[in-house]
Parts: sequence; structure tokens; C-alpha cells
Amino acid sequence: MSILRSGGVIGFPTETVYGLGADAGNTSAVERIFRIKGRPTTHPLIVHIADAGTLDQWSVEVSPLAELLADRFWPGPLTIILERSARVPDVVTGGLTTVGLRVPDHPKALAVLRAFGGGLAAPSANRFGGVSPTTADHVRHDLGDAVDVVVDGGPCVVGLESTIVDLSSGQPAILRPGGVTREALEDVVRGPVPLRTGGQVRSPGQLASHYAPRAEVVLSTVDRVAVQAAALLSRGFRVAVSTDQPVTDLPDEVEHIVLPGTTDGLARSLYAALREVDRRGCDVVLVTLPPEVGLGLAVGDRLRRATGSGPS
Ligand code: TXA
Ligand code: MG
Repeated sequence: MSILRSGGVIGFPTETVYGLGADAGNTSAVERIFRIKGRPTTHPLIVHIADAGTLDQWSVEVSPLAELLADRFWPGPLTIILERSARVPDVVTGGLTTVGLRVPDHPKALAVLRAFGGGLAAPSANRFGGVSPTTADHVRHDLGDAVDVVVDGGPCVVGLESTIVDLSSGQPAILRPGGVTREALEDVVRGPVPLRTGGQVRSPGQLASHYAPRAEVVLSTVDRVAVQAAALLSRGFRVAVSTDQPVTDLPDEVEHIVLPGTTDGLARSLYAALREVDRRGCDVVLVTLPPEVGLGLAVGDRLRRATGSGPS
């Protein structure tokens, strides 16, 4: 805790991905996060809190819907965007009048937050634009000595970032699909919650190329993947195929990274698989998209962004 109180920056586990956290009330500590990540300071950070009871310290307008969603989904993979209070420094929100808030569902994150008492501003603990970390080793690999400590909480159980829902302007909207499904949100809201993933807000999650490994990511289908892989091999590329479906006739030289067949398993393993593609030195990875329902919506979103062309 003394690390956080004295302006330090820590890597810590959440149920979604590892975060790079600092005291949300300490401007120079938060500035360090941006420097370590190589992230432009105009891109806002999420403030992590221990429980919904302190929401009104961070937002001037906690609507009944915000309370309902917090009650239903926290601790959990949902970030709620609300009008910010004066407690939130400009550096956290990149000058926006809103703030993203979330109570993470991980015992170690909650223990840190409770002991610390304040809010932790935290993006995912990777370099800007890269693949989010789902283990403590990923954080150490990406950020090394730049962080003061990495709290190891094992592999993340969700494996994809939180769903971001904007409650700051009239109709709720999803800015980033994630660990809480659109269907679950619509159940609680009792109405449609549209996707607004191409909005004006300066969100790294809304840039064309994000969540991307070094290798080029190419979308494929089970029917075409073997032929596509062979064609790329013949052009001299080192090729990986990563899919949750059985593929026949793959050339021997292809690195085949098999993903789990369940959507939960797929979400949990996706980022480690993309990192493995880079570890094996591949130039290109062919991936297939799951049906975009439930968690499959977030998986598809991340895979599209990893291709650099953004969502269709
Ligand atoms: O699961 C997660 O959300 C993880 C863990 C560590 O909590 N965090 C995470 O943070 O993914 P980051 O910074 O990598 O992505 C947060 C996204 C960014 O796209 C950011 O622009 C957006 O949330 N965001 C933050 N505050 C916002 C705001 N006030 N309005 C709109 N978007 C906001
Ligand atoms: Mg991120």
C-alpha cells in the first residue's frame, strides 16, 4: 500500500485482464501510467473502486440505472461511464467531463482496493496498441522494471476487457463489448442497449488497430483456412493458424494454435494465443470468428481490431 500512497505504479490482476494501476487522485502517478504504456494522454483511464458505495464520490450524477447495473454486475467485468465529480483529476479522463468506473471481481484486486481506500486509475498493463496481459508473466514481459511491483493473481478468468456502457447521455449504449454480454445488459435494462463502438470519444479501444500482436492478423473461415495458409507459406511467410474449430489439410509447416471450443474458453485463451503467435516468430496468423452472440461479440470485436481494419 505504501507503494500506491507514495505515487507508485503497480501491475495487478483483475478477472478481465491485468491492470496498470496508480492512485487516481495523484496526477503525477497517473502521468507515469501514460509514460509506461506509451499511451497518449488524451485517452481516458478507468477508475477502479472497492465497491459501489463510493460511486457518488466519483460521479455527480448516479442515476437509478447506474445503481441498478452496479448492483447487478459489480464486482464484475462492467465499466460504467458517468458524469465525473471534482474528485477526478483531468489527467484521468483526458479532459472529458465523464469518468469510467468499475469494481473488479478478483480477490487480490479487491484486497488492494480496500486496503488502499481510494480509487485506482488503471488501463490494461500492456504497451499501447498491443495485446492485453492475462497473466503476471505477460505484464513482466511487456513492462519489465518500469512497474514498481506486479501482484500475481494467476491467469485471468474472463480473459477479455470489461464491457463499457455509457450512461452519461440519455439512452445507455455499449462503447466496447466485453465480459458482460449485451444480452445480460438488455435483460437488466429491459430494453435494447445499442453498440456505439465507432463514437467520437478518444478511446484506444476505438482505434482501428488495437489489441494487436506483432504478426499480421487475417480473418479466415474453416473452409478457406488451409488453402490460405498454403498460399502464404508459398510466399515465404511463417504462418500460424489459430481457431477453435477442427481444420483438415493444414500444411505441416503451419503453427497450429488450437483454441477451446466454448466461447468462455475462447475468450479466456485468445490473448495468450495471440502472444504465442509472436513468441513462435510468425509473420501472419489466420483466425476464424466465432458466432457473435454472448461473449463471442467481444471476441469478434477484438479479432477485427487486431486485423487493423476495425469492426465492420
Ligand atoms: O477490463 C478492463 O476494463 C481493464 C481492467 C484493467 O479493468 N481495463 C482496460 O483499460 O481495459 P483500458 O484503458 O485498456 O481500456 C479502457 C477503455 C479505453 O478504450 C478508454 O478510452 C475507455 O475505456 N474509457 C475510459 N474512460 C472513458 C470515458 N470517460 N468515456 C469513454 N470511454 C472511456
Ligand atoms: Mg487496453
